[in-house]
Amino acid sequence: MQLQEFPTDAVKELALRCAREAGELSQERLKQPFAVEYKTSASDLVTAIDKEVEQYVVEMIHRQFPDHGILGEESSGAGDVGSHETVWIIDPIDGTTNLVHQQINYAVSIAVYHQGEGVIGVVYDPSRQEMFAAVKGEGAFLNGRRLKLSKSVKLEEALLCTSVFWNKRAEQTGIDQLVKQLAGKARGMRLLGSAALELAYVAAGRLDGYVSMSLHPWDFAAGKLIVEEAGGVVTQISGLPLDYLQNSSVLACNPTFYEELRYHLHSSV
Ligand code: IPD
Ligand code: CA
Ligand code: CA
Repeated sequence: MQLQEFPTDAVKELALRCAREAGELSQERLKQPFAVEYKTSASDLVTAIDKEVEQYVVEMIHRQFPDHGILGEESSGAGDVGSHETVWIIDPIDGTTNLVHQQINYAVSIAVYHQGEGVIGVVYDPSRQEMFAAVKGEGAFLNGRRLKLSKSVKLEEALLCTSVFWNKRAEQTGIDQLVKQLAGKARGMRLLGSAALELAYVAAGRLDGYVSMSLHPWDFAAGKLIVEEAGGVVTQISGLPLDYLQNSSVLACNPTFYEELRYHLHSSV
């Protein structure tokens, strides 16, 4: 199938519907007690809500597009997704720790890749009813309002965001120290706890730059397209492009600011 034959409108409509309904389901489930389990440790959680939301989205996709591949964090659609022409990449709840502790500051993240290229990215924050969405070549939007990164940013005026201080590999490589020095030169540094939302906020100009040492494809797949369609830049910290099926470091920012950020993060991770 050629890219021009891809049913962009139908896939976009389904991605938006999945994100909205999944978000509403999560809000509904938050009204009652729910199971919380440790995945690998007390700081790596999964809840019954994560699992139910992913199952809900996977069923919606399979009903309409049974031949599409699905890569979901809770692995209900795992397998050899790379062999599918079209792959949905889902994080049912990005920011599970926030969901458990705060019931806000989490998002549903859904991306669709076709022939290895991101075509649709949706990040939905159900607690604020904010829908960030992008279609390749058509721009990025927040609740229908176009997002465009047009202002020029300098480090001393920049509001940055990171999660590197919580990553052991970051400590080993020393990137945490570089980011710490960067924070001292910037206007401020934030850590929101949801990579998908943090990327969406870069697209919206609420943050000027985001640095992470190690994300999974479901953390960045949708947010990357939204940042790029808003006119931003997303690469690995080293400057290399991201592989949509590989774990990787992520640097996302306003384009006027990219070289300056890279200069301060002179590292190959
Ligand atoms: C996590 C969040 C967090 C990032 C972690 C992710 P999860 O996702 O995006 O901001 O720093 O690397 O694993 O586990 O809440 O889906
Ligand atoms: Ca995640
Ligand atoms: Ca998750």
